[in-house]
Amino acid sequence: MERREFLKSAAAVGLTAGTSAAGIAGAAVAEAQTTGPGGINLADAAAALAQFRKTIPANFDRTYVENVIVPFFMTSLYEGERPLLPMIDLNFTKEMALPYHLWGMLYEDWKPAPDEGVTVFLQGLEKRGDNNLRKRIYFSAVTPDLYGPMYQAKVASFLDQLVAPQFAGKPFMRHYLDYYWQVYWDLHLGVKGADIPKEVIQVGEGFNTVLAYRNPTLPVFYENYMTVRKNLPFLKQWIDKHVEDIVAGRAANAEKTMVWYWLKNAGNGEHFSKKDIVFECFHNFVAFSQWGNSIFGIMSRLSENSGDAEIRASFQKTMSGDYDNANGAPYTPLELFVMELFRVISPNGGSLSSFDDAHEQTFFGESPHTQLGLTFARGNYISTPHTSTSFSPVHWTNPNQFDPARYLSVPTSAEIDEERTRKIGLAKCPFDKTTFQVEDGRKVGLTNSGFGTVFGVADGKPMPVCDYAGFAPFGFSYRRCPGEQLTIQVFEDFLRKVWHDKIVFQKLDLPNPGRVPVGPSAVVDDNLAFRRSS
Ligand code: HEM
Repeated sequence: MERREFLKSAAAVGLTAGTSAAGIAGAAVAEAQTTGPGGINLADAAAALAQFRKTIPANFDRTYVENVIVPFFMTSLYEGERPLLPMIDLNFTKEMALPYHLWGMLYEDWKPAPDEGVTVFLQGLEKRGDNNLRKRIYFSAVTPDLYGPMYQAKVASFLDQLVAPQFAGKPFMRHYLDYYWQVYWDLHLGVKGADIPKEVIQVGEGFNTVLAYRNPTLPVFYENYMTVRKNLPFLKQWIDKHVEDIVAGRAANAEKTMVWYWLKNAGNGEHFSKKDIVFECFHNFVAFSQWGNSIFGIMSRLSENSGDAEIRASFQKTMSGDYDNANGAPYTPLELFVMELFRVISPNGGSLSSFDDAHEQTFFGESPHTQLGLTFARGNYISTPHTSTSFSPVHWTNPNQFDPARYLSVPTSAEIDEERTRKIGLAKCPFDKTTFQVEDGRKVGLTNSGFGTVFGVADGKPMPVCDYAGFAPFGFSYRRCPGEQLTIQVFEDFLRKVWHDKIVFQKLDLPNPGRVPVGPSAVVDDNLAFRRSS
């Protein structure tokens, strides 16, 4: 409703698609009315909008313009503070923290419809059940103890295909993107190969392409967005059918799928219904798409002709030693190396939050937006930055050095208990320290640190993460990435394979490399290849 009103006013200044000379004439009227409160020149605003109108291709669907382009135009994204502790306060919320123009890829009606399912990724802490219950249920499917027995063989078969000899010497990323859906659906539903319908592949590729290109006025963005929307009902039904197969015991090796753990640990479903499970299965397009820019980032740095000498030397050193032996430390040498790669690559730029306009509070008075009588909705988001936090000299004496050992001198989530947080002056973490016992037959619990970071404990043994603001690539506190350790385990396997198969990466000298959408905000030249050295 509010957006329609905006459209009406926008039409008067020629913003909307299909608006013609009459709209521009409206802008002239606005020009005659000149300034608004506070000296804002309405004619300037009208001219800016008319200018923007010209960038919208005429063939774009009218509802797309209304629900995607206009909200995009009305969105402001701010860079937030670099946190000193690994926490984000609740004033910056995950609730609806998705730029409005992207909702149409998740819901058919272009806007949030919680009855059709939700993702923990877009929920404020207050909506997640006691002590971040939904997050703990989600996490139960990806705790590190599951990787070896349940998921590793699937990842290994994917990696074998990725670096199969026939793909040597060819641009790698297109090939990666084509194979990636095999491991994605195998992990979620136990489905792969010809059993994945083309519509399901199309919606996934469309989704990732939109996230990579970012700008909704681009034809490539528009076309892929509309492909996602066309196939969304099919996708949801397809996932639903496979979830039902798992529920009914019709799926082979169901305990090797993430969905199996979500079903077992969802309790009465209040905080993880079956619709939510279906929803998480495709919302994970966002999460898993970051494996693409991660692998590209790793190959770039290890490349023999264009890589980073310090990182290449560190890889040699790590793999020449006892790389899988933690030797009493919280992490193995290989894990430390992968963690440091993620700090440096930072595949995810920042943790996005929505927040309130301070003007709406009485202390600051009415916002200028309200004073101007502008009733249309604005989108305001803030990003808590990852790269600059990971590189902050406040956290590290040697932030620019590639130093995997740095994580041995900062606390793990198992070490941040309440006594420790009290010592640094905090009375309480965002929620009580508590443990959720899984109900899938394992002796595994999901507990949390004094900063609210959730992590697993298997057979009484903690499986912690580095709980320090200087390690930012997977976010912070109650909203930190539950897929972090799975991701690290996958990349450990990738690097083991690289080492054992004597794989080397090279930058190709291509006159016109293909452009490929490898991850959120990442479209790159497809100019890296691998080969096996002797
Ligand atoms: C390179 C790979 C990945 C990176 C860099 C990454 C990064 C992140 C970051 C930074 C956040 C916090 C966002 C915020 O607070 O606003 C996050 C949250 C999340 N990630 Fe990941 N992620 C990756 C892979 C995965 C995978 C593989 C999964 C699933 C298995 C996953 C599932 C999630 C979920 C569900 C959340 C929301 C957590 C919550 O709000 O409580 N991620 N991720």
